[in-house]
Amino acid sequence: MQIEINTSAAPAEGVAVVSLTMGSELPASLVRTDGIAVSELQVNIGAGPWEVERVVRQAVRAAVSFKLPAIQLNSADFIMLDRTLFSERSLGKMMARGALMGAYVFDDYLTNGQAPMRINLIGDDEAFLAGVQEGTVIGQCVNEARTLSNTPANIATPAELARCAHKMAASEANITVRVLEDQGLKREDLNLIRAVGRGARGTHGPRLIVIEYSGKPDNDIQDVIIGKGVCYDTGGNSMKSSDNMPGMHRDKSGGVTVLKTIQALSQLKARVNVVGLIPAVENSVDGDSYRPDDIIETAAGISVEVTNTDAEGRLILADALWYAKRYCPDTVIDIATLTGAAHIALGDAYSGVFSTNKTLLRDLITAGEAGFDPLWELPLGPRYAHYLRSTQADIANACMSGKSGGASSAAWFLHRFAEKAGFAENYAHLDIAPRMVQVFPDEHLAPGSMGAGVSLFVEYFLSKQTP
Ligand code: BES
Ligand code: MN
Ligand code: ZN
Repeated sequence: MQIEINTSAAPAEGVAVVSLTMGSELPASLVRTDGIAVSELQVNIGAGPWEVERVVRQAVRAAVSFKLPAIQLNSADFIMLDRTLFSERSLGKMMARGALMGAYVFDDYLTNGQAPMRINLIGDDEAFLAGVQEGTVIGQCVNEARTLSNTPANIATPAELARCAHKMAASEANITVRVLEDQGLKREDLNLIRAVGRGARGTHGPRLIVIEYSGKPDNDIQDVIIGKGVCYDTGGNSMKSSDNMPGMHRDKSGGVTVLKTIQALSQLKARVNVVGLIPAVENSVDGDSYRPDDIIETAAGISVEVTNTDAEGRLILADALWYAKRYCPDTVIDIATLTGAAHIALGDAYSGVFSTNKTLLRDLITAGEAGFDPLWELPLGPRYAHYLRSTQADIANACMSGKSGGASSAAWFLHRFAEKAGFAENYAHLDIAPRMVQVFPDEHLAPGSMGAGVSLFVEYFLSKQTP
């Protein structure tokens, strides 16, 4: 589907525009001016900024389902909301981001996909228009992340992710990309990425995609973000059941988020330096696949006993954490669809955030709120160490006795590697398995990937900019 946003009131000739105007009843409702009653939307006055974005998504999604070619949204229609809760700029941003995210459907492989849609956002305030521009970049990058995450594993292979990264570097400013494959991974001793990826070859074989964005070249402070790029997670030899396997092409969502975050930062000319690392693999079954009971020696110097090949995400992330050390990073944040346990704990309401750094936690949670991409803190600490005890190696990759505490023991595994790399005090882990796909329709997004993490990362880095 093609989605076009513009801020001029005049629609293309012959295109019907459906407007939404706010009625006077309480709670206020947005009503379609073409008289079709079905999409009357209830607006909760005083409910805060989230209400604007929610209602815009809902309105645009209704327009898509009615196959309307265009919709018009007027900033003035939100006059009844408590405007002290948000600025004109953030109103523009929310309207653009909400409209793009609401209009999205994954129809790339449908012969008769959705018709293109025009969205007119009306407002003349300069700050509003600047907000629309920013929201458009974010909304588009979130949607591109959703498409890549939704794309199945026969198409979105590790090689394809690498190609997307190279393509981005060629078209966007201040981005360089490097990809480590067989020999490169071997040279760097990235044995965990190699082990997990060993069951797949060629375009499906393992890679480490390294993306460097330099938005503030006169400054040597840089942050690293690491995204889990498991293009398909069969579970490997500890194979998933046929109930649990479908959908596991979305196990690369964290990696895709890193890619599209950096694209958005470049398009917004964000004055920050960010390195993105995406270990991209397929967790497949084959005679070469790694197995339970294998012991892997790592570049970090921590030996790992594999107790479950389905706990593959933490393995590839651990190697990437070690690789991050060379950047002497200010902060390191990883993002991953890491555990079913985080999903059990949080539902689809929040992604989990784990860190021992209170400032970093606060900043990430604040960014999540601003991006409507919310986070909730889960525990991280040595009380989870016993879940990962091994008698054969320094650490086991999974707990042998049940799933309880699974999100936190996974986080502790990663923390061990962050500690070894020397940045545990400036490290956070985001488990976005809860928000890989929408479970309840309340967010007014099309079924499939939600693009979790893009919007929150962009907010986080925009807030870290210095003049
Ligand atoms: N990719 C999965 C986690 C997942 C499950 C994400 C469902 C999204 C939806 C991960 O690699 C995995 O398999 N985790 C295991 C860990 C266990 C073997 C210790 C899990 O959560 O069951
Ligand atoms: Mn797995
Ligand atoms: Zn996985």
